[in-house]
Amino acid sequence: MSVVLSLKQISKSYGAVQALHGIDLDVRAGEVLAICGDNGAGKSTLIRIISGAQPPSGGAMALKGRAVRFRSPHDALRQGIATIYQDLALAPRLSIVENIFMGAEHVRRLLPGIRVLDKSRMRREALGYLRRLSVPIEDMRRPVERMSGGQRQAVAIARALHWNADIVIMDEPTAALGVKETALVLGLIRRLREEGRTVILISHNMSDVAALADRVAILKGGTKVIDRPIAGLDADTLAHMVMTGQDVG
Ligand SMILES: Nc1ncnc2c1ncn2[C@@H]1O[C@H](COP(=O)(O)OP(=O)(O)O)[C@@H](O)[C@H]1O
Ligand SMILES: [Mg+2]
Repeated sequence: MSVVLSLKQISKSYGAVQALHGIDLDVRAGEVLAICGDNGAGKSTLIRIISGAQPPSGGAMALKGRAVRFRSPHDALRQGIATIYQDLALAPRLSIVENIFMGAEHVRRLLPGIRVLDKSRMRREALGYLRRLSVPIEDMRRPVERMSGGQRQAVAIARALHWNADIVIMDEPTAALGVKETALVLGLIRRLREEGRTVILISHNMSDVAALADRVAILKGGTKVIDRPIAGLDADTLAHMVMTGQDVG
């Protein structure tokens, strides 16, 4: 598999706290890469750097072989990296359609010089995205605040599809969800992979990781201690590896 995103010696300090020490990481096109580690290991910091939310203190990133430096999450999104945040960055009062197209609305020309939102096209495309994700939603005008946690993630992912993101990052997507909602979100990740997108999944849930990921990178104290294929690892073994930082070989 070709490398879509490459990190070289990425480090990050917050004042006296060094959250990341020289992380090298290759993300391959089309894989589901799990990033695991105890609290404080540096997972969220790493994701904030990849998603453009924060600059690294040192090191370099390359996207499809080209050196990149993201100025903001929007900058990263424009270049194909979408992040689905834990506390979803959706607008609760706005509808599903409005959230999916926020910042990238379709417009049509009503008269020369007069452009209006193309609502029917957006509604049609929004339905298409959610159908691709196998999420049935009856009322596209429903405000997002009245949707379940899993459905909200589906809306956020539909937004990533609209931006045609190659890489979708999810930080603890199932942490706050019940069993049924978790199954919905795991299904979303499978759909993304079937579409050939790359998924970076931060998770504490080793059963999710064992079931979904192709590869796991484990952080400990801001250092990457393990980076290997998931094949053959079960949830208990993964949990043991996260705890000890030792590969089982
Ligand atoms: N904004 C911040 N300011 C100061 N220290 C931070 C900040 N964010 C994270 N840290 C520190 O960086 C380390 C890594 O944190 P974090 O990336 O949140 O780890 P994880 O997501 O794996 O739990 C921790 O020691 C944490 O206290
Ligand atoms: Mg975190």
